[in-house]
Amino acid sequence: MSKKIVILNGSPRLNGNTKGLIEAFTKGAESQGHNVKCFDLQTMNIRGCLGCFGGGKDKASPCVQKDDMIKIYPEYAAADIVVLASPMYYWGFSGQLKCAFDRLFAVAECDKFYRNPKKDCIMLMASEGDSKSNAEPVINYYESLLKHMGWKDLGHIIAGGVMKIGDIKGHKALAEAEKLGASL
Ligand SMILES: Cc1cc2nc3c(=O)[nH]c(=O)nc-3n(C[C@H](O)[C@H](O)[C@H](O)COP(=O)(O)O)c2cc1C
Repeated sequence: MSKKIVILNGSPRLNGNTKGLIEAFTKGAESQGHNVKCFDLQTMNIRGCLGCFGGGKDKASPCVQKDDMIKIYPEYAAADIVVLASPMYYWGFSGQLKCAFDRLFAVAECDKFYRNPKKDCIMLMASEGDSKSNAEPVINYYESLLKHMGWKDLGHIIAGGVMKIGDIKGHKALAEAEKLGASL
């Protein structure tokens, strides 16, 4: 059955290493007839969460801030799979992705017990470091996040050893990302 996949791309470099992973993943997913929508967060006006706890009143536009998150909320609601794509920035997600993700809290606020909609999730990440210890903090974070959200991990790929735009070319993670996309 065709799945709806939403990619939140937190890389500010629109032709960077993260985008390489996204393209390979998308190729695999589309080969199986899945519907993929990628949001390049860098090109969007998305402000950080205000922590006002005042959202959740309108399902179509749950946050009190009215910015480009309005484009993401309906796609997120309909998505079977959410892909968190980002360069590794200080052993975490980029600010662009963190801001967008925090704003999904407004969706949880639609539920009186703050339950999040059930999703499957994938992480695609590019990083300069290429060791297990370099990847560990972000994998811990990703696993804790999914536990909190109640989401299932379908796979997480960290392409290590890539710094400059273009470094991802020929990286083994590209084949892994395509295979992951095709496996859905
Ligand atoms: C602000 C900043 C923080 C970074 N922090 C890390 C880090 O903690 N660990 C790491 O391995 N690489 C780090 N990097 C390197 C990037 O993850 C790497 O260049 C990646 O390939 C960028 O992906 P992109 O081409 O999609 O922008 C950092 C780069 C920047 C600009």
